[in-house]
Amino acid sequence: MQTTVVDHPLARQALTTLRDVDTDRTRFRHAMDDLAGLLVYEATRSLRTEVVRVTTPLAETEGLKVAEPPIIVPILRAGLGLLGGVLRVLPDAPTGFIGVARNEETLQPEPYMNSVPADLGGRDALVLDPMLATGGSLIHACSLLRDRNPGRLTCVCVLAAPEGVTALERSGLADELVVASVDHHLNEVAYIVPGLGDAGDRLYGTA
Ligand code: PRP
Ligand code: URA
Repeated sequence: MQTTVVDHPLARQALTTLRDVDTDRTRFRHAMDDLAGLLVYEATRSLRTEVVRVTTPLAETEGLKVAEPPIIVPILRAGLGLLGGVLRVLPDAPTGFIGVARNEETLQPEPYMNSVPADLGGRDALVLDPMLATGGSLIHACSLLRDRNPGRLTCVCVLAAPEGVTALERSGLADELVVASVDHHLNEVAYIVPGLGDAGDRLYGTA
């Protein structure tokens, strides 16, 4: 698995806003949306393109378009925080949803939804989840996608714990991980440290 840490000043600035305990929900959502727009540039570097002709006001010239946009797969809930920023640059990409909640006692992923087509026909997929902690949720999502004939599987995360990166790599399911930071460690309740807290709650509150 290729791991790319997006070490860009604007990404680090958005990540700092996300980490800050004093960032309110509105600013948190905005910063996540900004960061998604930056992470997706790295995550789509190897997309296949095709040559097109384009007429400018002055001449005809050659241009490029994405040959087949990847399917975007946010992991509910927190992955939705990255979806808008990704669809802004890939407006024609289809979206499939996977719902997984981590059981906070067993730390096991508990799936509750899946709207990914049964056969992806070799289409690439971008899997969105801001947090890669133990890796259980992303490994569940990638294993479900692997059974559906995908092309390249790229996971797009805001933060990862070293333990989660190792688990995802060992699973052999993902081709690439794009992340803004690999943090220090997981604490005793499997939260990423220094982290940003509970991403889903900071985006959407607790019902
Ligand atoms: C969080 C986060 C990841 C998962 C990471 O989701 O958004 O999906 O935990 O932990 P893991 O790597 O140990 O599986 P959560 O289950 O809290 O659900 P939510 O997005 O609905 O808040
Ligand atoms: N889920 C989160 O939202 N945050 C963590 O740090 C770990 C899992």
